[in-house]
Amino acid sequence: MSKGRVVLAYSGGLDTSVSVKWISEVHDLEVIALAVDVGQGEDFDVIRNRALAAGAVEAEVVDAKDEFARDFIIPALFANAMYENKYPLVSALSRPVITKHLVEASKRYGAKTVAHGCTGKGNDQVRFEVSIRALRPDLEILAPVRTWGLSREDSIEYAARHNIPIMATKEKVYSIDQNLWGRAIEAGEMEDPWFKPPVGIYQTTVQTATEPSSLVISFESGIPTALNGRTMGLVELISDISQMVGAYGFGRIDMVENRRVGIKSREVYEAPGALALIMAHSDLEDLTLERDLSHEKLRLGPRWTELVYDGLWYSPLKQAIDSFMVYTQKYVTGDVRLSLEPGRVMVEGRRSPVGLYDYELATYDPADAFRHQDAEGFVRLWGLGVQTWSRKQLGTD
Ligand code: ARG
Repeated sequence: MSKGRVVLAYSGGLDTSVSVKWISEVHDLEVIALAVDVGQGEDFDVIRNRALAAGAVEAEVVDAKDEFARDFIIPALFANAMYENKYPLVSALSRPVITKHLVEASKRYGAKTVAHGCTGKGNDQVRFEVSIRALRPDLEILAPVRTWGLSREDSIEYAARHNIPIMATKEKVYSIDQNLWGRAIEAGEMEDPWFKPPVGIYQTTVQTATEPSSLVISFESGIPTALNGRTMGLVELISDISQMVGAYGFGRIDMVENRRVGIKSREVYEAPGALALIMAHSDLEDLTLERDLSHEKLRLGPRWTELVYDGLWYSPLKQAIDSFMVYTQKYVTGDVRLSLEPGRVMVEGRRSPVGLYDYELATYDPADAFRHQDAEGFVRLWGLGVQTWSRKQLGTD
């Protein structure tokens, strides 16, 4: 009988490289390594060869950048998704798209098992496993890193013993996860929340620009479509914005975050493009969404974000909220102008052909078309209940 097969979500890092060998030895399975390109900016030829050198029978790279931008980042932008008001879900968004491809590959390769390289302390194991169970409940899941009990040194030694070509050194290094939407940097000295993150960890928010400038982002029904009047595809647009505002040193986040598994952890992120796009997008919503719709959206956005953070991308409530979000975006069309200065990005103007800002209602100029006489009765009735309470119960009569 031929050996069973397992598809492993492969990143090219130490843990997943050791996992390739470990799974084939301990579980006696053929390992198919699947790397999903979500804009890590890595050399996927190197990654592919590393998987093969580690003992994978097959190593496949899927370019999911367009899909990631269109089907995962855009819904997050619609929700202005910021976990705990700060973190734009960088890693939380990539896990469901990686899982989708993992599950598809399991069918293609006739594998009954899939594997990931997450530890038992993080959110990513939750996101992978809950998503796998939603998409193909009959799959077996292996999580070798969670159970093998190897220290970092043990893993490096294991890799050396099996001629697995890894880049890691024995010094403590950071755990980094990067995609088109941003970059997460964890561990090392930063495990002390009081410790200042070493400047060397930053890559996409290093300030090089010194002259102030501005940037116009155009949106059509909530989707960013052009930069400074130049129409472009989403992947290019997101990476261009990230570079432009990142060059002003904008986009760093340093926070203590509540993980799903009950641990508080110190997290440092660089997400210049995500923060600038969410800033611009929510500003355009202020101009184009009716008040009640806007307020309800402000309540549902954090709920959507929490579901996605918690690994529930593929869940009925998250999908229902998606439908709400899509409905709200119909008129989110127009331009937002950002001012870019060293260390600071701000909205400095917005306009929309379907905006709800009405100059004649808002102005104090002679063009004023507001019916002032209506205000008196409105305000009297608005306060009538409070007035009655005061008279009858506070005894102010
Ligand atoms: N704390 C973030 C999250 O849960 C980032 C996780 C990043 N993963 C990593 N391997 N560094 O979404």
